[in-house]
Amino acid sequence: MSRLSIHNGLVLLNGKFEIKDILIEDEIISKIADSVPKAEQNIDANGLHVFPGFIDAHVHFRVPGAEHKEDWKSGSKAALHGGITTVLDMPNNAPGITTVELLEKKREIVAKDAMVNYGMFFGATAENTDEIRNAERIAGVKVYMGSSTGNLLVDKLKDIEKTFMACKDKDFVAAVHAECEHMISENESALKEETGIGLHNKIRNPEVAAAATKDALELQKKIGNKLHVCHSSTNAELELVKKAKNRGGNISVEVCPHHIFLDESIGEKIGTFSRVNPPIRSRQDQQAVYKHLQNGSVDLVSTDHAPHTVEEKKQDYWKSPSGMPGIETVIPLLLNEASKDAWSLEKIGEWCSNAPARIYGIEKRGALEEGNYADVTIVDMGKEWIVKGADLFSKAKWSAFEGFPLRGSIEYTIVNGEIGFEQGAIKKCSGKEVY
Ligand code: NCD
Ligand code: ZN
Repeated sequence: MSRLSIHNGLVLLNGKFEIKDILIEDEIISKIADSVPKAEQNIDANGLHVFPGFIDAHVHFRVPGAEHKEDWKSGSKAALHGGITTVLDMPNNAPGITTVELLEKKREIVAKDAMVNYGMFFGATAENTDEIRNAERIAGVKVYMGSSTGNLLVDKLKDIEKTFMACKDKDFVAAVHAECEHMISENESALKEETGIGLHNKIRNPEVAAAATKDALELQKKIGNKLHVCHSSTNAELELVKKAKNRGGNISVEVCPHHIFLDESIGEKIGTFSRVNPPIRSRQDQQAVYKHLQNGSVDLVSTDHAPHTVEEKKQDYWKSPSGMPGIETVIPLLLNEASKDAWSLEKIGEWCSNAPARIYGIEKRGALEEGNYADVTIVDMGKEWIVKGADLFSKAKWSAFEGFPLRGSIEYTIVNGEIGFEQGAIKKCSGKEVY
């Protein structure tokens, strides 16, 4: 048996930090107590904060089909560097994961390289409800109501409704990319002679997102399926979700760091590198997203980690693909804000560990408890550093947060009892499928 102990850390237990020791035996947390005996491997966590391993509920690791952007070796390292021990991976691959056969093939490839735990989303099409009904052990069903990277799209209400019904029957979460395709293409035609990153928030404007979010919420009300609204980026969407939750819908919502921390002025600095769906918004909407998070109307923070290469991103607006990396910076960005008292460190544990495990039904992870898998992230709130794209492990090697000074750094990332990241260095560890 391999044993690892963590001593004198501020350990997040039931929403509060307490000074405790943790004993890990093989892949399981076997004891959390005032004191545990030293093991073969020991970590002195005096003065450090010990979180349940963070779960990123929205990543695009690009396998199969776009391995030059990311694969499970680079993506896993990026996750470990960012303190993330579990990822839920999206199905907009090439080909899109829309059949049970393709899902099983993807599982086989990913199992070989994953150094963090993972779950997989299934992709909806206009006609694959039979496949959805045959799928097992998935995080949920991703529904692209508007087109984005890849060719997954379900843009007709009657097809979205059928998909939600299949989700309801199987008790799957329908995770929606809520942008209205019809409005997007109208705006694209109207603006096709223009160019520049400023176009993005005009083509995929706030109304485009609000219209689709409204449709999704109305269908959820009718059908009663579990609904998760991905990467919400405006005040209007978050208000709609809040209302729908108040009527008692089985609804959750996430926001992403680029919508929490960046506004559209970033376009002047980094041009098409800031192109992402939904777009980076006005300062007003950015502040509204930030406030909704602070006020408790958001369930979780995920990254929508969507790497594309520098060569791809630097092209003209119409050619540059949408998406940006985020998995290595999300936790430090949230920690940094906590260091300024914008929110508590406990909240970060809720948004990035407890809530994703609860909403997506990930068992024995997402909390530090005896008997749970030993997924642990240890951070140093005293350390300051500066984001540099060149230092990141993702294949993207660039960040929209380049040059951001941050307080709070990831010191250890432990996956199933193995130290996968230790003070700047990646170590050997292996991830498991969580479903
Ligand atoms: C994502 C990608 O590149 O896979 N892009 C993005 O702009 N967010 C797709 C998506 O989730 O929309
Ligand atoms: Zn999306």
